Amino acid sequence: MTMRLFKKIALVTGAAGGIGRAVALCFADEGAVVIASDINVSGCAETLELLEQRGGSGISVQADVTREEEIEALYRQIAERYGKLDIVVNIAGGDAEPSADVEEIDYLKMSANLDLNLKSCILSCREAARMMKPQGFGKMVNMSSLAYRGSPNQFSYSASKGGIYSFTRSLAMSLGRYGITVNALAPALVEVPAFVRALGPERWEMLRQECAQRYPLGRIATPDDVARCALFLASDDAAFITGQIIEISGGARL
Ligand SMILES: NC(=O)c1ccc[n+]([C@@H]2O[C@H](COP(=O)([O-])OP(=O)(O)OC[C@H]3O[C@@H](n4cnc5c(N)ncnc54)[C@H](O)[C@@H]3O)[C@@H](O)[C@H]2O)c1
Repeated sequence: MTMRLFKKIALVTGAAGGIGRAVALCFADEGAVVIASDINVSGCAETLELLEQRGGSGISVQADVTREEEIEALYRQIAERYGKLDIVVNIAGGDAEPSADVEEIDYLKMSANLDLNLKSCILSCREAARMMKPQGFGKMVNMSSLAYRGSPNQFSYSASKGGIYSFTRSLAMSLGRYGITVNALAPALVEVPAFVRALGPERWEMLRQECAQRYPLGRIATPDDVARCALFLASDDAAFITGQIIEISGGARL
C-alpha cells in the first residue's frame, strides 16, 4: 500500500501530548518526516524515539508556542534543515481555566488561554504561510475543539477555540490560490493521559462514562481517532477541502 505522506515534511506541535503524539506517529507511519515540537522536551524526545522505533524519521525541537521568538526559531530551523514545509498541525494547547463562573473569570488565566490556543495558532500559521506561499503548496491543520460551539463555564477556552475556527476560515480564503488548504479539528472528549493525571482515575472514569453515554457512538474518542482525521486533512485525499471544521465527536451535540 502506498504511504499517504511519503517524504512530506510535517511539523506537529504539542507532540509530547496525547493527541500530538498519536498524530506524529500516524504521520511517520505514512512516510512523513516529522518535526515533533513541544515545550516538554523529554516528552517530545520520547515521541521521536517511539517514532524511530517504528521505522519513522524526524527531529524533535523544543519550542514554547506562546513566545513569538521561539515559534520563529522553530520555523527557521525547519527552513535551514529541510528547505521546505509541506504540513503543519498546530496541536499545542490546553485549558488554564476549565471551570469558572463568569463573574470569576481570571484575567491571567483568560490571557493564558488566548495566548496558548489562539495567538500561538495564528503565529504558527503566519510562519507556515511565509514558507508555503512561495512553494505554492501546503496543508495546515489547526486544533479547535467541540467547545468552539460554546461550553458552559469554559469561557476563554471556548472563545479561543472558536477564534481558531474563524481564523482557519479567513486563512483558507486568503491562501487557497497559493495551493494551501487550512482546516480545523474539533474533537469532543478524547482519552488522553493528561486528563487522567489531572482528574485522578476515579473522577476521570466518571467523566468518561458520562460522556460515553451521551455520545451517539457510545464511547469517547481515542487519540488515534483524531490522528486519522488529521491524516485525511493533511493528505491528497482532502485536496479540495479547505476552511472546514471537522467534528470528531461520535455524534455528540448534533
Ligand atoms: N483531550 C481532549 O479531550 C481534547 C478535546 C478537544 C480539543 N483538545 C485539544 O487538543 C490539543 C492537545 O491536547 P491533548 O488532549 O493531547 O492534551 P495534552 O496535555 O496531552 O497535550 C498538550 C500538549 O501541548 C503542550 N504544550 C502546552 N503548553 C505549550 C506551550 N506553551 N508551547 C508548546 N507546547 C505546549 C504540552 O506540553 C502537551 O504536550 C489541545 O489543543 C486541546 O485543547 C483536546
